[in-house]
Amino acid sequence: LDLVIAYSKIGKVNAALTAATVIEKFGSEVVLFSGVAGAIDSSLKIGDLIIASSLCQHDVDITAFGHPYGFVPESKLHIKADKKLIALAKKVAIARGLELKEGIIATGDQFIADPAKKEWIASTFKADAIEMEGAAVAAVCDVFNVPFFVLRAISDAADMDASFDFDEFLFNSSKISAEFIIAMLDEMSMV
Ligand code: ADE
Repeated sequence: LDLVIAYSKIGKVNAALTAATVIEKFGSEVVLFSGVAGAIDSSLKIGDLIIASSLCQHDVDITAFGHPYGFVPESKLHIKADKKLIALAKKVAIARGLELKEGIIATGDQFIADPAKKEWIASTFKADAIEMEGAAVAAVCDVFNVPFFVLRAISDAADMDASFDFDEFLFNSSKISAEFIIAMLDEMSMV
């Protein structure tokens, strides 16, 4: 099996472009996406791992036409990640004694650093974590019928004040997330 490693810049457009490119140009049959996220569920602490059961776009608003927040006509509000990849991740977590949460991840082109916005996303989408790419990858993979998986390590609580040093936690959390993906690839006999 071949492994394609791709870097996506921040945001839904870049993530969609990256996902479409690995699928269309490189023929990827499975997509694993990793990075960091802000915590919504209060049990999630910095460095904790969460995998997406499903993902939604919290910044989509076509409510003027009677659609719920996050809904794009002819698509799905919540797009489910692949069950087999989720099971594989759980197996890897158990084998390594790591705690792994599973939940709803909300995606949007905004870095959430405000308690009121965080609360709105939490109550509107029942989201457990928030980031800026996952649902775009999910939407692309759904269209192409490619199984996908999204893993995030928590980097912040999505309500930070200006004194919070995001970059300090970004490095460590990114490393935790990437190392878990490598462990999954190991299990898939790809490294
Ligand atoms: N990625 C990491 N933390 C985030 C936050 N608070 N909002 C959006 N994306 C994030």
